[in-house]
Amino acid sequence: MPVPPTSGRLQWTDVPTPLRARLEDALGSSVTDTVTPAGGFGHQLAAALTLESGRRVFVKAAPDDDPLTAANVHEADVLDALPPGAPVPNLLGIHRGADWTAVVIAHLDGPHPDFSPQSGDAEQTWALLDKLTSSPAPASYAAAVSTMPSTAASLHGWDELLADPSADLAPAARDRLPQLTELEAAWPALAHGDRIVHGDLRADNMVRDHHLGVTFVDWAHATTGPACVDAASLAPQLILAGHAPADVARLLRDHPATARNSDTTTAFLAALTGHWHRNARKPAPPGAPGLRAYQHRAAAAGLALLGYRLN
Ligand SMILES: Nc1ncnc2c1ncn2[C@@H]1O[C@H](COP(=O)(O)OP(=O)(O)OP(=O)(O)O)[C@@H](O)[C@H]1O
Ligand SMILES: [Mg+2]
Repeated sequence: MPVPPTSGRLQWTDVPTPLRARLEDALGSSVTDTVTPAGGFGHQLAAALTLESGRRVFVKAAPDDDPLTAANVHEADVLDALPPGAPVPNLLGIHRGADWTAVVIAHLDGPHPDFSPQSGDAEQTWALLDKLTSSPAPASYAAAVSTMPSTAASLHGWDELLADPSADLAPAARDRLPQLTELEAAWPALAHGDRIVHGDLRADNMVRDHHLGVTFVDWAHATTGPACVDAASLAPQLILAGHAPADVARLLRDHPATARNSDTTTAFLAALTGHWHRNARKPAPPGAPGLRAYQHRAAAAGLALLGYRLN
């Protein structure tokens, strides 16, 4: 799948000198090179640092008055609380200085997974999701996410489009607006659960590490919820990567995380797709140039999947 373009991210040299010095001190070596990976929509520093010692680490950093700092600290708590064997990089530390906060994470070496039909990465990711959601989240994880409101639970969009249908709405959506609105309205009551939910699972929030295989990163939106959320979020991504919607619809029907929660899966897909359809039509936010085009494509993919579930 083509990964959305890297936005105007903060660079290592934007980090205040006292925090850079503190980080280099804690890592025991000075930074000799930085690489900002492609992917994602954020504006904070998210970079692989190469140290003089040859070691590499991954750092996310932002000013403390930027909401991304709270998200990064939440992500650090989550990384620390995920169960052993979860497909995640280790947290290495949190450092503060000059009213900025940096979270240091073990560096993963490799590209984003390739979700095209020719690759085995999608299959590997489905297997990881089965393992991650087959039993309740451990207490440490549930505690780490307990203060974080679920962003998935508040997804919606069809309600606004029903009230004010956009002229360019696809006929498949226009014809079903009342049904889609009803389905997404059912979602918030179904959004609770005791499973690990990454909450933002796309290829650009994964790295296919040369040693670890597909690994999930960017746990800033992690919560607990029903087992189906991440699998159902991944499904439209596979269509964007070239899979036939009918094949993905079959996968969703049969995957353990979604097969056991069929109505919840449909309600969530409706809410997620409504969110994309609504947001794709809003003005582009500053610093995220690829976002609206991506939402248009994701909206169409989600609608294609819903077509199979509603027939
Ligand atoms: N531990 C890691 N090692 C190597 N690369 C990583 C690591 N974690 C993330 N990345 C890469 O850095 C990119 C940005 O990281 P991440 O998604 O965590 O940042 P973000 O600012 O929260 O993202 P977003 O833009 O999605 O909000 C990812 O798309 C991935 O390519
Ligand atoms: Mg990301």
